[in-house]
Amino acid sequence: MCRARIKLILDLSLMQFFLDTADIDAIKKYASWGIVDGITTNPTLISKEGVDLKTRIQEIAEIIDGPISSEVVATDSDGMVEQGRKMAKWHKNVTVKIPMTSEGLKAVKILSAEGIKINVTLVFSVPQAMMAAKAGADFVSPFLGRVDDISSEGIELVADIVDVFQNYGIQTKVLAASIRHPLHVVQAMKVGADIATMPPAVFDKLVSHPLTDQGLEKFLSDWEKCKSCQKEQ
Ligand code: E4P
Repeated sequence: MCRARIKLILDLSLMQFFLDTADIDAIKKYASWGIVDGITTNPTLISKEGVDLKTRIQEIAEIIDGPISSEVVATDSDGMVEQGRKMAKWHKNVTVKIPMTSEGLKAVKILSAEGIKINVTLVFSVPQAMMAAKAGADFVSPFLGRVDDISSEGIELVADIVDVFQNYGIQTKVLAASIRHPLHVVQAMKVGADIATMPPAVFDKLVSHPLTDQGLEKFLSDWEKCKSCQKEQ
C-alpha cells in the first residue's frame, strides 16, 4: 500500500504549513491568508532580525495561534533544560527547539516529561529521528534542503522517517524543514510529512501560477468589454 494511502487511514488531518521566519511583517502578512498553522525560528533567523528573542516570540504568539518554535542555545543538557523551562513560560504555544545531540536528548527527556512541547532540530538520519521520538519529542525536523546541498536526496530522509514512524505507530510529527522551493513542499506532501516549514518566499510561490494570472486577466477584460452583462450591477 502506498505511503500516502497509509497516511490517509492513520491520520485524516491536512498537511500543516509553518513559516520559517522571525520577520514580524511577513508573519502578519501571511497570517492574514488564514492558513499559517505555526512558526519555526532559529538563532540565525532571530539574529537576522536583531531583536530580543523573548519579545519576538511573544509578538509572534499574538498573531499566530499555533506552535512557535524557539531554539535553545546552550549545548549542555542542564543549560538546555534551564532555557527550555524559561521559554515554555513565555507563552502556552511555545515549542522548545532542541538540537539533536546526546545532551539534547537528555534535555528532551526531562522537558517532555514536564509537559513542555519539544521540536528536535538538525535531524539528518532515521536513527536520530527515532531517538528524538523515544526521548519524547513532539516534532522532529529533518532538514531536507541541507541534505540536497550535499548532493543527497533530502526527501528520501523525510520519507524514511515517515515510514519508520508509521511502522511503530509513533505520534511524533515529522516537520519537513530547510525547504527551499515549492517542489520540496510537494515532495513532502507526497511522502506524508505532517508539516512543512518554509520561508515566506516559498509560501508566496505556492499560491502563484502564471496560468491563474493569465486566466483571471482574460476573464476580467472580457467582462469589461461586455457592457450588456453589467446592466444590473
Ligand atoms: C527549521 O526549523 C529551520 O529553522 C530551517 O528550516 C532551516 O532552514 P535552512 O537550511 O534554509 O537554514
